[in-house]
Amino acid sequence: MRSNRLTLRRSPAAVAAVALAALLGTAAPTAQAAPATDTAAAAVAAPDIPLANVKGHLTQLSTIAANNGGNRAHGRPGYKASVDYVKAKLDAAGYTTSIQQFTSSGATGYNLIADWPGGDPNKVVFAGAHLDSVSSGAGINDNASGSAAVLETALAVSRAGYQPDKHLRFAWWGAEELGLIGSKYYVNNLPAAERSKISGYLNFDMIGSPNAGYFVYDDDPVIEKTFKDYFAGLGVPTEIETEGDGRSDHAPFKSAGVPVGGLFTGASRTKTAAQVQKWGGTQGQAFDRCYHSSCDTTANINDTALDRNSDAAAHAVWTLSAGSTGEPPTGTVFSNDADVAIPDAGAAVTSSVTVSGRTGNAPAALQVGVDIKHTYRGDLVVDLLAPDGTAYRLKNSSSGDSADNVIATYTVNASSEVANGVWKLRVQDIARQDTGYIDSWKLTF
Ligand code: TRP
Ligand code: ZN
Ligand code: CA
Repeated sequence: MRSNRLTLRRSPAAVAAVALAALLGTAAPTAQAAPATDTAAAAVAAPDIPLANVKGHLTQLSTIAANNGGNRAHGRPGYKASVDYVKAKLDAAGYTTSIQQFTSSGATGYNLIADWPGGDPNKVVFAGAHLDSVSSGAGINDNASGSAAVLETALAVSRAGYQPDKHLRFAWWGAEELGLIGSKYYVNNLPAAERSKISGYLNFDMIGSPNAGYFVYDDDPVIEKTFKDYFAGLGVPTEIETEGDGRSDHAPFKSAGVPVGGLFTGASRTKTAAQVQKWGGTQGQAFDRCYHSSCDTTANINDTALDRNSDAAAHAVWTLSAGSTGEPPTGTVFSNDADVAIPDAGAAVTSSVTVSGRTGNAPAALQVGVDIKHTYRGDLVVDLLAPDGTAYRLKNSSSGDSADNVIATYTVNASSEVANGVWKLRVQDIARQDTGYIDSWKLTF
């Protein structure tokens, strides 16, 4: 809370000037930036993943199956068409994608890998899902559901311009249904040095089962806790996944010593009375009665489960890739240390910082460090100007704010701004008598 106490150092004329400036609308009506103490939360909060987007991908993959003999199985045209669909979305969102080919049962298979530029290359947070179906159907719960959640999480990273401390990688595996062929191929062909850079692999296989349970893999404790905490926050109980450990694409990673985790809503096992108590649904019925059959269509999805698990996937990717909790993300600092005099009750002045070598948009939690020496900080209106001129109000004037100096770190959601370019700190002194200068300021990307 800010004190509005006026001090004796302020002349009545100066107070009147501040009031006049307010009446004239000198202070722009933009929202105040969050103070630096909000940084940690802002840096790690994942966006809500829109269920409609996830379901849109299910519809597209369903259509791809329908147009290709009713499935998206390894070695069939529906599989490659699925890869092309996902790859096009990722390319358009700024990912670096690659297709890894392998051969299995006499047919060419494909893994799709997508890297989000930036982050520490020695700390990779990796999320994946198998994109192939069995040949008997379109494979919408198994596993368009996991594929769509991972895709939409990746697209949300791009939309947010998220620049986590760690490097993000996503993958869609081929030929899982033939025995984890694609993910095994990837892990076997990954040099040991690259393997050891993966801080965690998160797997999503069957996350929209119609008679859903909420199962969390019991593997790496940090990943497991990240998922459990998310569901606890929703008030949704979870159980440990026991319907076949090692039956999906996390298994090769786990065998290679990579920390793994994941989510699952159940396959052919039946739901118990106790599970109906906690989750609803139908007792004595399989979690997915259409598992590996032709009725695994877009009708074979529990929207609530798909929604919660997609949000949980994004939450885990965000949380696990951010810096150590409680600290702002570390990054490159761009600064200007040249002093700029601020004229007393005069025109606005600016100091420029050129940001280069970045990819995509500025962070959702851009740190703006400001060091202004001034004999009455209440005189000052401070804005951050993005390269395109958009102004972000950091601080308004306030006649009662009688302290010296503005030395603070502000957090600005700059995710709609392109990172590279000339950023400016704009400072205006709107009241007579006290004066000062911009000592330095910096942006941390
Ligand atoms: N991976 C299996 C499939 O695609 C499904 C499955 C069974 C599963 N048990 C699991 C997936 C446990 C994850 C965890 O057919
Ligand atoms: Zn599966
Ligand atoms: Ca002044």
